[in-house]
Amino acid sequence: MKGIILAGGLGTRLRPITHTGPKQLVPVANKPVIQYAIEDLRDAGITDIGVVLGNLGRDDIQSFLGDGTELGVDITYIVQGNPLGLAHAVGCTEEFVGEDDFVVYLGDNILNDGISDLVQSFETGDYAAGIALQEVDTPEQFGIAEIDPDGNVTKLVEKPDDPASDLALVGIYVFSPAIFEAIRTIEPSWRGELEITDAIQELLDDGFAIDSHVIQGWWKDTGKPEDILEANRLVLDGRPGSLDGTVDSDADVRGHVDLHETATIEGGAVVRGPVSIAADTVVEGGTYVGPYTAVGPNTRLSTVHLENSVIVGESEISSDGKIVDSLVGKGATVTSASGLLPEGRRLVIGEQSNLKL
Ligand code: G1P
Repeated sequence: MKGIILAGGLGTRLRPITHTGPKQLVPVANKPVIQYAIEDLRDAGITDIGVVLGNLGRDDIQSFLGDGTELGVDITYIVQGNPLGLAHAVGCTEEFVGEDDFVVYLGDNILNDGISDLVQSFETGDYAAGIALQEVDTPEQFGIAEIDPDGNVTKLVEKPDDPASDLALVGIYVFSPAIFEAIRTIEPSWRGELEITDAIQELLDDGFAIDSHVIQGWWKDTGKPEDILEANRLVLDGRPGSLDGTVDSDADVRGHVDLHETATIEGGAVVRGPVSIAADTVVEGGTYVGPYTAVGPNTRLSTVHLENSVIVGESEISSDGKIVDSLVGKGATVTSASGLLPEGRRLVIGEQSNLKL
């Protein structure tokens, strides 16, 4: 069994964060989203992994993952170029996959329970595809599966206007090489993309058996900022915390806190876990870091009240106010305007920024 991670795509729904880097490297609990996919594949015994890259962020992803050795896997890069849809991306892997069965993992999906059950179930039958499903509140935003009373998949539709089911296709699939022929026969969808959902429907039409599972643990497609915050919250909730860094004696730290060995919480700071603080970051006195916050590397926090937020890193945040439910991109600074005349907020805002003042 081989693994494929799809890491093309433009990440438009995560702009402006994705103006400076690919969505697969946005950190959730201080770990890039794509690393969760690599670890899930590895934990399911799959170490021969192809990573499909688009034009955006190609170098960043390659320099982060390298040849995979550090993560215990062997990575081959496959260039998709322009993103023409998930099925197009999978089609680009035919030579790498050869005659093997393979898992396709969308590089922006995070799954709590890993993929071992899905892989094992696929291997016990004679299936052309294995899909994972979960009930969602907004089925029109996903690929949707219709299931008969015996649990057999009867129909798959990509982002239907009027969904007949609320079972969404999770972005992790197992395929036999039969999928490549199915991909060759499908046409672009209304959004101009070759949809993997349509290719699986093609397998169904051709009489192939499809294995399906409704997954129990949480799953997140991290396509939008609120999804990143939600995934961050879910991952931090499961962390035991490890106070490896420096905590000054009069700092007030409670709850589960992952503190990198080179990070510091100074006297007079208040930190309430679950929180993750990355390398070389300093939390100064007078700062409050509240639950469900991840602060990336090389960042300085002073006199700010920060909660339920992701700070990607390389930042300075020293505002008197409260910052909540926020996603702050790499290198961004948030400082105080108090005492400056004329009074007022001072903004240097990039394209597609989103502020709620
Ligand atoms: C893609 C798939 C969709 C699936 C979803 C899961 O959607 O097309 O079928 O349910 O991933 O994350 P996209 O992220 O391209 O909108």
